[in-house]
Amino acid sequence: MDSFLIQGPGQLNGSIAASGAKNAALPALAACLLTDEDVELERLPQVRDVITMGRVLEHLGAEVTRSTDATPTRVRCHALAADREAPYELVKTMRASVLVLGPLVARLGYARVSLPGGCAIGARPIDLHLAGLEAMGAEVELDHGYVTVRARGGGAKPLAGCRYRFAMPSVGATENLMMAATLAQGTTVLDNCAQEPEISDLATLLRAMGAQISGAGSATITIEGVDRLTRARHALLCDRIEAGTYLIGGVMTNGSVTVTGLDAVHLTPLLEKLSDCGANISVADHSITASGGSELKARDMITAPHPGFPTDLQAQFLALMTRAEGTSTIVESVFENRFQHVPELRRMGAEISIDGNAARVTGCASLTGATVMATDLRASACLVLAGLCAQGDTTVDRIYHLDRGYERMESKLQTLGVPVQRIE
Ligand code: UD1
Repeated sequence: MDSFLIQGPGQLNGSIAASGAKNAALPALAACLLTDEDVELERLPQVRDVITMGRVLEHLGAEVTRSTDATPTRVRCHALAADREAPYELVKTMRASVLVLGPLVARLGYARVSLPGGCAIGARPIDLHLAGLEAMGAEVELDHGYVTVRARGGGAKPLAGCRYRFAMPSVGATENLMMAATLAQGTTVLDNCAQEPEISDLATLLRAMGAQISGAGSATITIEGVDRLTRARHALLCDRIEAGTYLIGGVMTNGSVTVTGLDAVHLTPLLEKLSDCGANISVADHSITASGGSELKARDMITAPHPGFPTDLQAQFLALMTRAEGTSTIVESVFENRFQHVPELRRMGAEISIDGNAARVTGCASLTGATVMATDLRASACLVLAGLCAQGDTTVDRIYHLDRGYERMESKLQTLGVPVQRIE
C-alpha cells in the first residue's frame, strides 16, 4: 500500500487547474446505461473510483473505451443483459455503484446490485433510493447481501412517473431517481431534492441525451419520461472539493494558491468562511486565489447540504482551524461518524475534543510530523494538509483512499512547490 512522505513545514504557492469532479463523473458514467448509443465524457478525472465505475459498467455489458491511463472516456451500453449484476467485489469499494440501480431498472425493468454495506464515514443506508424506486412501481427484495429491484410494469417503459418527496436531501438518491424517471411512463416530480452542483451537471448530460428535466439544482425536479435517450457528449464540471482542498492548503501554509477552471459560485460557503477567518480571497473569471492573511482567526462551522458548507471539506477546514487564533466548534450535520481524522491529528499535536457531532479545536498548537493513517478520502486530504504545516516528516499511510478521489495529488502539490513523495 502506498504512502506519502511529506517533509514539513512547506508552503503552497502557484497555480493549478482543477480536475473534473469525481462526484459528477460517477453519476455521469451510470447515466450511460440509459442509452444504447455512444456517450462521450470529457474531463473524467483519473481517479480510482472512476476506474472502478468503468469496471462496474463493463460487468453489466457496456463497452468502455479507455485512455492510455485506463480512465474511461467513451461508453456504449448497447448489449446490456438483464440477468447481470453489480457484484460485491466491485461495489464494496465504492458506494456510488448503487447509482446503476435507477438506470438499469428504467431501461431493463430489473437490477441486482450488492448492498454497499457499512462505510467509514457512517451507516449511509440506501433506503431513500429504494423507497423512491418503489414509488415508481418497483418491487425491492433484499437477499444474501444483494438488492434486487424489479419493475412491476412491463413493456418499453417499466417504471411509472410519480410524485415523491425525499425524507431528507440525498445526493445519490436524487441522482438515481432523476435518471430512473427519464425513461419512466409519464411525469415524475421529486421534492426535497439535494441541490449540489453535480446534480445540475448530471441533468445537463441527461438533457443532452434527450431527457426532459427542469428544476435540477433546486429542491423540486420535474422529469417528463421520454421513449429513449440517445448519443451525447458532455464535459464534466470541475471538482469544487478538490479545488477547496488546495485553496485551504494555500491559506493554511500562509502561501498563495490559484485554482483555475472552476465556477467560484460553487464554492461560496468555503470562500466566505475563509474570508471571515482573515484569508485573502480573490475571484476572477474561472479562477480563484486564496492566500494566508496576517493572522488567521478561528471560526465556527457547521456542515449542511448544498448550498451549506460541504461535508466533504469539513476535515480540511478542521485542519485549518488547528492553525487559527482562538477556539472553533465544528459541527458535522450530514454524516454521523465523520471525525476519524481527529485522533490522527491529535497524534500530530493538535488540540481537539469531540462531543457527539461537534469537534472543538483549540488553535495554534504546534504540529509535529508523525506516521498517520488515512481512514477515508477527505480525512486523508486533511492529514496531508496537516503534514504540510508540521515540523519534520509526516508519513500518511493508506493513501489509496486519496487515489479514489484526488487526481495526481502529489504532482499537483509538487507544482505548488512542495515535494511530496509517494512511497510504494
Ligand atoms: C454524496 C457524495 C459524497 C458526499 C455526500 C454528501 C458522491 C459520489 N458522493 O454521497 O462525497 O459526502 O454526497 O454531500 O456524489 N442517507 C440515508 N438514506 C439514503 C441515502 C442517504 O439515510 O438512502 C443519508 C446518509 O447516510 C447521509 C445523508 O443521507 O447521512 C446524505 O447522504 P447522501 O447525500 O446520499 O450522500 P451520497 O450520495 O452517498
